Amino acid sequence: MFHSTAIAASDKHIFYAELDKQLAGLLAGERNFIANAANLSSLVFLMLPDLNWAGFYLMRGSDLLLGPFQGKPACVRIAVLPHPRGVCGAAAYQRKTQLVANVHDFPGHIACDSASNSEIVVPLIMNGTVIGVLDIDSPLLNRFDHDDQAGIEQLVRTFLDLTDPPPM
Ligand code: SME
Repeated sequence: MFHSTAIAASDKHIFYAELDKQLAGLLAGERNFIANAANLSSLVFLMLPDLNWAGFYLMRGSDLLLGPFQGKPACVRIAVLPHPRGVCGAAAYQRKTQLVANVHDFPGHIACDSASNSEIVVPLIMNGTVIGVLDIDSPLLNRFDHDDQAGIEQLVRTFLDLTDPPPM
């Protein structure tokens, strides 16, 4: 049974380093993509304050398809090619993290949950190929800064190191 341990850290570097250790422990002994993605979305949703959605979209053909997540039911399919849609599409297409302080200012943002006001989307790159994205949404404006970005990108690296590619 997983017991979440509250991380008493005002410093985000310390917070994310501790969370990364918890993630490595949580994923140890299992390399299945869906199982590990489900547990990472749960850990993020449980441990990061002020979120309303956290989860995965996985590349299927030219689209991103909804994967394991925590939060309200969400849009199922998001186009990446030929024209990327929304923040998730942009992250997959540009192969680059999207840090969006105010989603209402992002051209083409897809409002799955009207509570979302800021968002970070990190691409998942395995063996040089974008296999999906991790999308994290907050009801607060400007919830994520560059320290969050560095911390969440490290969580994604740990997840990808400890996980086999998804069934395509
Ligand atoms: N807002 C995202 C869509 C996914 S939901 O937030 C879960 C986007 O613009 O790509």
